[in-house]
Amino acid sequence: MAEKSFKYVIVGGGVSAGYAAREFLKLGLKPGELAIISKEAVAPYERPALSKGYLFPESPARLPGFHVCVGSGGERLLPEWYKENGIELILSTEIVKADLAAKALSTSSGDTFKYQILIIATGSTVIRLSDFGVQGADAKNIFYLREVDDADKLVEAIKAKKNGKAVIVGGGYIGLELGAALKINNLDVTMVYPEPWCMPRLFTAGIAAFYEGFYKNKGINIIKGTVAVGFTSDSNGEVKQVELKDGRSLDADIVVVGVGGRPLISLFKGQVEEEKGGIKTDGFFKTSIPDVYAVGDVATYPLKLYNELRRVEHVDHARKSAEQAVKAIKAKEEGNSIEEYDYLPYFYSRSFNLSWQFYGDNVGEAILFGDNNPESAEPKFGTYWVKDGKVVGVFLEGGTADEYKAIAKLARVQPSVESLDQLAKEGLSFASKV
Ligand code: FDA
Ligand code: NAD
Repeated sequence: MAEKSFKYVIVGGGVSAGYAAREFLKLGLKPGELAIISKEAVAPYERPALSKGYLFPESPARLPGFHVCVGSGGERLLPEWYKENGIELILSTEIVKADLAAKALSTSSGDTFKYQILIIATGSTVIRLSDFGVQGADAKNIFYLREVDDADKLVEAIKAKKNGKAVIVGGGYIGLELGAALKINNLDVTMVYPEPWCMPRLFTAGIAAFYEGFYKNKGINIIKGTVAVGFTSDSNGEVKQVELKDGRSLDADIVVVGVGGRPLISLFKGQVEEEKGGIKTDGFFKTSIPDVYAVGDVATYPLKLYNELRRVEHVDHARKSAEQAVKAIKAKEEGNSIEEYDYLPYFYSRSFNLSWQFYGDNVGEAILFGDNNPESAEPKFGTYWVKDGKVVGVFLEGGTADEYKAIAKLARVQPSVESLDQLAKEGLSFASKV
């Protein structure tokens, strides 16, 4: 049982931890001041790669190729970088108890880490079908995807079940990205989700119709309006069939489940204020407890632009919230202040040769523009969300770098629109005028 003390401790070694470490170094860090404690065995990496390049059949992405901060065009922080800069990377170490009053974290083997300032960066975990009591959900070859270990197991199964059948449960981000990845690997893919169209938390029916049409043209079978209620397995315990609520049964050699994430805040329950399923913070990512900050997926923070508390489970916010928290910590130490976080929500996804970006808020009336025919050689379309006569959100598939820049600006500026018909007619050219 060992005890170690640091000025700063980051619990969690994912995207935000890596970006926070870089910011600490940039603003002034002495060797031995910072420790990152992670239950993963590897240094912080760009998690989005796991559902994309990591699963490519040819030249897949592998570590150390996608350690942070390459995802945002920065220098790659290899494990040596932490060593050279005196940052202690404590890997394969799960914190099982946090005592915020005593400023101490401990592991199951009784090791203790003390801190002066704590950054909570534990991210999310997957929601499991067994959480809903789905029968047989612990069969072999049923996969979830959150960490590099999960991705490695899936890659093995893809190799072992060549040309086999895959069922994807869930029609959100994981569902759409993994449906494509398994199809590219030559599996026979069926997707199942309960809603009338995919990704309903962002997509409108018009946006979803394009992706569903495109996926069908790629040979992916889509079953909507039902859920998986059970699995049967063979004598080796390997999954063989997925039973659906509507009575159908699907053959499966591999099942991938993506039915949502849950922020990992249980260590801090009863010790910090919570809001909307996350840890409540201010615009500097300070929690209700002095010297304790929360960033990334776990933070519920004031989204200044919409005057509302929000939690965001996307990589751009993970990076930026981490940088903001570190800037706030360092400014406070120097008796300075910084501006409150003023975030413009930005999400993106890629699958097959498709790529979209979204900026702003998807509330109000949705106006579809452009060519959303899944048969088109080069489809390019988007959607504006208009609320109280202003454009507040924009989605664009197939844009250029300049076009994405233009829609980001639009979502920030929120220009007024007089006629929705005119907006639909102008389409993307409306964005380039702002
Ligand atoms: P993150 O999950 O990155 O890191 C948390 C870390 O804490 C993990 O290393 C975990 O092991 C560790 N940890 C947790 N509890 C611990 C404990 N008790 N003790 C020690 N360590 C602990 N977003 C986007 O905008 N575009 C995209 O394309 C994608 N793609 C994507 C693909 C996949 C497969 C996933 C799972 C997620 C995405 N995302 C995404 C979402 C994005 O990756 C996510 O929002 C960020 O990784 C969140 O960063 P955090 O640092 O908050 O958590
Ligand atoms: P999600 O919330 O995007 O989608 C969950 C989906 O699960 C729902 O849309 C629904 O279709 C489905 N669902 C819910 N209950 C179900 C049930 N009982 N049976 C079948 N389907 C059911 O969550 P996810 O796709 O699992 O993603 C997990 C996390 O990873 C999220 O935080 C997400 O933001 C993140 N992620 C983001 C990206 C990206 O931004 N490009 C990519 C991958 C993962």
